Amino acid sequence: MGIRFDLFILSIALLSAPCLSDLVLSKVDRRDDMTGIASVDLTSQIVRITSTLKVENLGTDPVSEVLLPFPEHQAKNLAYLAATINEGKGKAKSSAASLPIEVAHPKEMPPGLIWYSVSLPKGLGKGERLTLDVLAVFTHALRPFPEKISQAENQFVVFQDSAYYLSPYAVKVQSLSVKLPSDPKLESYTKIENTVVSGSEIKYGPYENRPPFSYSSIIVHFENNQPFAVAQELVREIEISHWGNVQVTEHYNLIHGGAQSMGEFSRLDYQARPHVRGASAFRHLVAKLPPRAHSVYYRDEIGNISTSHLWVDSKKTQLEIEPRYPIFGGWKTSFTIGYGLPLKDFLFQTEGKRFLNFSFGCPINDLVIDNLILKVVLPEGSRDILVSVPFPVKQWHETKFSHLDMVGRPVVVLEKMNVVQEHNQHFQVYYKFNNLSLLREPLMLISGFFFLFVACIVYMHADLTISKSSASYVAKLQWDEVQTAIQQVQNIINRCLTIHDRLEASLRDLSRTGDVQACKATRKAADSSLKELSKELKPLVAFLHSSPQAAQILPKVEELVVKERELQEKLMSKHSTVVDIYEKKTGGREIENRVALIQQKLTALRQEVEDQLEAID
Ligand SMILES: *[C@@H]1O[C@H](CO)[C@@H](O)[C@H](O)[C@H]1NC(C)=O
Ligand SMILES: *[C@@H]1O[C@H](CO)[C@@H](O)[C@H](O)[C@H]1NC(C)=O
Repeated sequence: MGIRFDLFILSIALLSAPCLSDLVLSKVDRRDDMTGIASVDLTSQIVRITSTLKVENLGTDPVSEVLLPFPEHQAKNLAYLAATINEGKGKAKSSAASLPIEVAHPKEMPPGLIWYSVSLPKGLGKGERLTLDVLAVFTHALRPFPEKISQAENQFVVFQDSAYYLSPYAVKVQSLSVKLPSDPKLESYTKIENTVVSGSEIKYGPYENRPPFSYSSIIVHFENNQPFAVAQELVREIEISHWGNVQVTEHYNLIHGGAQSMGEFSRLDYQARPHVRGASAFRHLVAKLPPRAHSVYYRDEIGNISTSHLWVDSKKTQLEIEPRYPIFGGWKTSFTIGYGLPLKDFLFQTEGKRFLNFSFGCPINDLVIDNLILKVVLPEGSRDILVSVPFPVKQWHETKFSHLDMVGRPVVVLEKMNVVQEHNQHFQVYYKFNNLSLLREPLMLISGFFFLFVACIVYMHADLTISKSSASYVAKLQWDEVQTAIQQVQNIINRCLTIHDRLEASLRDLSRTGDVQACKATRKAADSSLKELSKELKPLVAFLHSSPQAAQILPKVEELVVKERELQEKLMSKHSTVVDIYEKKTGGREIENRVALIQQKLTALRQEVEDQLEAID
């Protein structure tokens, strides 16, 4: 084949295996015959190795830990390691709690190994036995070979491990099964003694009585067109609102981590036969969101992506994500999904504290996450924050500001490299929160709105009085003007009447003194005065004509003016007649009768004018 693999050779180890303890692995099965699940699972891009170890203490001292070594090249890809006690076939495995595991540095061990130590719940005494289930999950452990393929080619990958279980303890009986994707195209595999291929499985063993650190490299080269979706970075933001919502926003930076795509990409070819012309590409990803998720969206920097589907039932909400183009090896895409969740499903109270209980990992299955940054944004005013995560993570605090925030919201940031589905475990963020703080923002809003409304009312009120009064004020002003005009008219009429009186008086004087000249002078003065008054009257009457508010009173005023004019004319004719009588000394009954007639009319008119004045008043 002409390829070189980093073969791991433990020749030194085999020569100088130290006597670590009196433990012996009486049986190692990396094959689960009962359930039929292969113990080295290569069906996806993630390698899962489950091992069942029957541990037996042949020594006299109790043993409290079991050591698990991994070759360095494997250990750097180790994403998850868990060990549980297998209580026997009857018990469900999931009920067993994981045992504590720590990185260990045992002395005088062969080089090139990374060690983990599993602490047993109680020491294993002389002759006692125990069965451990160990799950190790590796990412980036399947190497594409060839490393570059064209659009139409299938993707082949290489996996490397040991046919013998690598252990510091002697292994009495062991076997291994490698499970490949269904209907496997097996390019090559390492054949040693007791190797059988059956269906999509390669079985190694059983092998008996292998000494500590036995190692026999096996290489499997096979077709694997599973979606090699790798999130180089995933930022999940979980924002708690005590008003009933948990808002989750997830930013993905995805790459196809499989064989690099080379040559031109032909969409035409791809669309015509996507399974043949793009077998190694991935089109869909499925995110399993919690039940009752709402306001789900999926977008990238261009905008919303409509080619996604949402299925909702009582157990889960499933979002099928379809990027804008198929993702081939080495291609990248980034997008954001977001959704809201009911607060009561995730926020609980205990001993005066609140706590968020939320899943750590990402909702997309079989996604490898190189770097996961998880931010929990707590409500403003939260304090005494405590985080509980079931595995080691980097952790720090930040502050986030959004609208109405005064001091900012505390943000707990958790960072973890190399995250897989097994990390979808619950973590808790405990914090204290004063309920009064909850009221701060609404109070701010309420007082804000209150002042706004007060301001509005004041403004509206002011505006109303101005506009209302401006209408009524103008009307009032106009009415005042009308009244003033009417008063002036009355005034003028009264002054006319006074002049009439003066003329009458001059006539009486005339009859007593016979001084015609004096009477004429009075008449002349009266004429000019009346003329003046008549001039003054004209604009007032014109104004009353133009003013709508004077409409009602106008006829009476006009009648008054007409009557006064009539009265004036009659008075003048009487005056002239009487003066004539005295001048020409004609006298006589006829004239006296004429004057008496005029006098009657004058008296009547005078009465009418005075009545009219009173009516107008
Ligand atoms: C994108 O989708 C979300 C949720 O469906 C919606 O609220 C938003 O208005 C959409 N934005 C655009 C630009 O269409
Ligand atoms: C968190 O939620 C999970 C799943 O609902 C549950 O099994 C677990 O007990 C919860 N943890 C705590 C501390 O309440």
